[in-house]
Amino acid sequence: MKVLVFGASGQLGSLLPPAFAAHSVRGITRADADLRDAAAVRKAVGESSPDAVVLAAGNADADFCEDHPGDAYAVNVDGARNVAEATRGRHLTVFSTDHVFDGRAGPYSEEDRPNPMNVYGRTKLEAERIVQSVNPRSLVVRTTLVFAPGDRSFFSKLLSTKEPVPCWSDHVATYTYGPNLAQSVAELVEAGRTGVWHVAGTDVLSRHDFSLKVAARFGLDPSLFRPVPLARSAPRAPRPLRAGLRTEKARAALRTKLLSSDEALELAYRAYGRP
Ligand SMILES: NC(=O)c1ccc[n+]([C@@H]2O[C@H](COP(=O)([O-])OP(=O)(O)OC[C@H]3O[C@@H](n4cnc5c(N)ncnc54)[C@H](OP(=O)(O)O)[C@@H]3O)[C@@H](O)[C@H]2O)c1
Repeated sequence: MKVLVFGASGQLGSLLPPAFAAHSVRGITRADADLRDAAAVRKAVGESSPDAVVLAAGNADADFCEDHPGDAYAVNVDGARNVAEATRGRHLTVFSTDHVFDGRAGPYSEEDRPNPMNVYGRTKLEAERIVQSVNPRSLVVRTTLVFAPGDRSFFSKLLSTKEPVPCWSDHVATYTYGPNLAQSVAELVEAGRTGVWHVAGTDVLSRHDFSLKVAARFGLDPSLFRPVPLARSAPRAPRPLRAGLRTEKARAALRTKLLSSDEALELAYRAYGRP
């Protein structure tokens, strides 16, 4: 299979090539094709002539999106439409998020009704709908709080900090180990799956709970990680407080085992060791 990855320089995009190692993978960046430029997107797809395309490019910064809704819509919605139009007849995977939900009753299954409470979530939900209507061979993978050592995630901040880090104590969600997500996505693509799938870690915990697990596994000082309510840090974009994703559908279909945070941290520790 020939696979083309948009967003190869990003957190998720850089995790994908190893998971597709059995295939011929090409990763491209914004310099190769800006998502907002329909002709450039068409050209990139035409030149690679892939069997499957993975859209791992987009604006994933909820606070930036809240302050710059025009930019957020241009990249996350119009950009996704451009990719869906350019990939008709090919398999397309796009990434979405638990921010499509309002955070009143998470974790959420694929059957739950989306109701985004911030601009980022609205752009991602609109993109999900457009992509699926434009390209019927679309797979929407919703995931959350992806982490791997060396990335720019909250997890990496915990590993590298020498200063106290405020950790939300009342925002709960599912923490997802990047290589486990990438392996699961590769399996879904290989099977030609379409529709909406939740792929995430299997336990729901707050940032503070997560930080204590990281401290315990990596031998860090837990007192650096200070519990604070979300409202205290007043992020620009409101967050779905009781969020996270239920993954029964993926767990029933995948050979790849979706991991709990303890299992994921154990693998991360074995792969990368102490910071
Ligand atoms: N990370 C998570 O925990 C998470 C959770 C749920 C869903 N997602 C979704 O996964 C996708 C990737 O997120 P990420 O965390 O990997 O983001 P990221 O690390 O910020 O990477 C975003 C990628 O998109 C590219 N990009 C941004 N604007 C572009 C444009 N106009 N044209 C072409 N490429 C552009 C960036 O290229 P440059 O480097 O050149 O800017 C970068 O390669 C997003 O759709 C996000 O909504 C992520």
